[in-house]
Amino acid sequence: MKIAPSILSANFLDLQKDIGVVDRAGAEYLHIDVMDGHFVPNLSFGAAAVKAIRPMTDMVLDCHLMVEQPEKYIQQFAIAGADVIGVHVEATPHIHRALAMIRENGCKAEVVVNPGTPLSSIQELLPFVDAVLIMTVDPGFGGQRFIPEMINKIKKIAQLKKDQGLDLEIEVDGGINDQTIKQCAIAGATVAVAGSYVFNSENPSKRVSLLKDLIRD
Ligand code: DX5
Ligand code: ZN
Repeated sequence: MKIAPSILSANFLDLQKDIGVVDRAGAEYLHIDVMDGHFVPNLSFGAAAVKAIRPMTDMVLDCHLMVEQPEKYIQQFAIAGADVIGVHVEATPHIHRALAMIRENGCKAEVVVNPGTPLSSIQELLPFVDAVLIMTVDPGFGGQRFIPEMINKIKKIAQLKKDQGLDLEIEVDGGINDQTIKQCAIAGATVAVAGSYVFNSENPSKRVSLLKDLIRD
């Protein structure tokens, strides 16, 4: 399993330092939460942040777009240096087109599902994506409580992946900490986002190591 610290909970006055710390701690991904104030009731970063971060690190830049009409922004995130671009199935009536645009722009395509959205809404999309992100909280804010009922959803997508022989990352996002990561890994998740657990701490490096220890076989 790979660890994806979310910079939503990092120190915005010293982002460079916080990114360096989790990079050196061995985090494979850096999760960047993009919010538009419409799809979710909060605002955060745009592609300019991705462009500034890109030269700082070789970590996989994992851009989670919590925006309406994501098609409008895909190209600018790709140009800014995103590696993975995640779009919500709830955010556009043309999700297949959005996912195709991500690949056309040279990035890995990820489809994201909210806790209240059934997996049936993305089942036909699996051949067109490189990753599925299962939200384990309602998106919009860091520091929320993990929804345990989502474990079953992770198991179901892992079973579909196996049955269809798909090469798919299964990412989980929201409320991931030392109490919740292991059950996600056992259920079949391959990437874990962690925001407040890593950065709302005196020692983010140690938190990354702790998470890595917990998921070591
Ligand atoms: C929630 C975001 C998450 C958030 C996770 O809308 O998608 O990536 O940063 O934060 P924690 O790990 O604190 O739940
Ligand atoms: Zn996220």
